[in-house]
Amino acid sequence: LYGSQRLNSKGFNIAIQSEWQPLAEQRQTFMHHQWQAGPLINGKPLLDKNVEPVVSPYNFDDKVGLVSWATDEQVTKAVQVAYDNWASWNITPVSERAACLQRVADLLEANMAELIALCHREAGKTIQDSIDETREAVDFCRYYGLLGQQMFGAEQVMTGPTGESNHLYWQGRGVFVCISPWNFPLAIFMGQVVAALVSGNTVIAKPAEQTSLIAYRAVELLLQAGIPSNVIQFLPGDGATIGAKLVADERIGGVVFTGSTQTAQAINRTLAARKGAIIPFIAETGGQNAMIVDSTALPEQVVRDVVQSAFASAGQRCSALRVLFVQQDVAPRILQLLAGAMAELKVGDPSALSTDVGPVIDSDARQLLIRHIEQMQQEAEVIAKGALPSAQKGHFVAPVAFKINSMAQLEKENFGPILHVVTYAAQALDQLLEQINQAGYGLTLGIHTRNEATAEYIDRRVRIGNVYINRNQIGAVVGVQPFGGQGLSGTGPKAGGPHYLYRFATERTRTVNT
Ligand code: NAD
Ligand code: ALA
Repeated sequence: LYGSQRLNSKGFNIAIQSEWQPLAEQRQTFMHHQWQAGPLINGKPLLDKNVEPVVSPYNFDDKVGLVSWATDEQVTKAVQVAYDNWASWNITPVSERAACLQRVADLLEANMAELIALCHREAGKTIQDSIDETREAVDFCRYYGLLGQQMFGAEQVMTGPTGESNHLYWQGRGVFVCISPWNFPLAIFMGQVVAALVSGNTVIAKPAEQTSLIAYRAVELLLQAGIPSNVIQFLPGDGATIGAKLVADERIGGVVFTGSTQTAQAINRTLAARKGAIIPFIAETGGQNAMIVDSTALPEQVVRDVVQSAFASAGQRCSALRVLFVQQDVAPRILQLLAGAMAELKVGDPSALSTDVGPVIDSDARQLLIRHIEQMQQEAEVIAKGALPSAQKGHFVAPVAFKINSMAQLEKENFGPILHVVTYAAQALDQLLEQINQAGYGLTLGIHTRNEATAEYIDRRVRIGNVYINRNQIGAVVGVQPFGGQGLSGTGPKAGGPHYLYRFATERTRTVNT
C-alpha cells in the first residue's frame, strides 16, 4: 500500500519530488482537456439531458467539462438493472471479483496524471492532495481486494452432531447505494464502490454534485477493469432529489453514505419511513475535532501538527482540527509560533507546486465560512490570519484562527480553514473532556503531551473514533489507521479497516442432513 503522504507546512513533500517530475509533464496534457459525464446505465453513457457546465473552483475561466444530471426515470431504470443482476454477481467467485479490484488499482496508477489534473481542476485540490487522493483510491482497491478474498473466499465448517453438515458463509446484500462527498472525490467514491462490489453487491453510485467528472472517469476504469456493466450503475445528480429517491427505493439492500451529519440524518429518516426490508445504513459524517496540548508538549512540533491538521486541504477534511485546547502556561509561546507559521502559508492556485492551501469547493461553501468568520469577529479575538492571493478568480478563504471561550460556542462543523483556540488551566482537564464529549461528535482527537499518563487518561475518557498522539490528526492510511467516527460523526464502521467489508455482507448458515 502507498499510504498517504502528508503535507509539509512549508509546501511540497520532498519525498515525492522525484516521482512527481514525469507525472507533472504528463499532467500538462490534461490541464486544458474538457471532460464529459452523465448517467451510465448498463454501460451506456447518457449525456444529452440536463447538461450543465463545470467550472474550476480556483479559476472561473477554466471550463473543466459538462455534466448531464440523471432524471427520475433513469433512477428507476438503474435500480432495476442493479436489482435484476445481483444474483449472478453474488455467485461470481470472490476471487474474480477481487481480481477486478486489483485491475482497477493498476488502471488508476496508469491514469494518475489525468486523475491528478481532474483533482486540481474539478475539486481544487493541491498537488500533494491530488497525489494522495489517487494513491488512497489505489490503496482501497488493493486492500479491499485482498481482504475480500480472505473474508469471503471460504465457508466456515461448524462443529455439529453426526449425520449433519453445517456451514457458515457470507453473501452480498443486494443493491448497495453508494453516496459520496466532494472532498475525497476519487478515494471515498472508489472506496465505497469497491467495498460493496467485492462483498457481492451490485452498486448504484451517486457522487457529489460538485465532482461528477472524476467519479465518471472512475466508473469508466471500473468497467475497463472488467466489472460487468450491469453490476455498476452511475447516477450523477442532486442529492435532495436523485439521492433521496434512490434511498427511498424498496428494491435496495443497503446504503453507504459519506457526507455531512445533516444529510445522514435526512437519509436515516427516509430509510425509517420507507416500506420494505430493514436495511443497513453505513454513515461516515462530520466532526468537531479537537486537539489537547498540555504544558509538556514540544511547541514546534505542536505548531507543525496544528497547521497541517487545521489548514491542509483548506480545512476541508472531516478529520480536520477545529478546536485547539492549549494549556494556559504554554499558550503565549504556541500562539506566537502559530501566527508565524500561518503567515507563511501560501493560498492560491492548487496546481502550483508552492501552494499550501487551495480554494474551497464552491460559492455556497465560501459564503457559509465567511458568515461564520464574520460572527466570530464579533465575539472572539483573531489570533492569526493568512493572506489571500492577489488576483482572485476562485473561491478562496484565508486561513484564520480565533480565540474563543468554550467549544460550546460552536454549533456545528465549519468545513474550511478556520481554527478555534481555547486556553485551559491544568485542573480544568476533566471539564474540557466533558465539553468534547458533550458536543456529540466523535471523529478525531489530537493529543500533544510528553506525559504518557496524561495521554492515556484522555484517551480512555473521550468518545472518539480516531485518536492521534503527538502527531497531526489527518490523513488516515488505508490498512494502517482504520477510519471512522461515532455519535454525530457516524454509525461506526472503519473504512480502510479489517472489519469494514462485513458491513456490506450478510451471513448465511447451511445445514445438510447427511
Ligand atoms: P453532503 O452531505 O452535502 O453531501 C454528501 C452526498 O450526499 C452528496 O453526494 C449529496 O448529493 C448527497 N445528498 C445530499 N442530500 C441528500 C439526500 N437528502 N438524500 C441522499 N443523498 C443526499 O456533504 P458534502 O458537502 O459533499 O461533504 C462534506 C461533508 O462530508 C463534511 O461534513 C465532512 O465532514 C463529511 N465527510 C465525512 C467523512 C468521514 O469519513 N467521516 C469523510 C469525508 C467527508
Ligand atoms: N481519511 C481522511 C483523513 O483521515 C478523511 O483525513
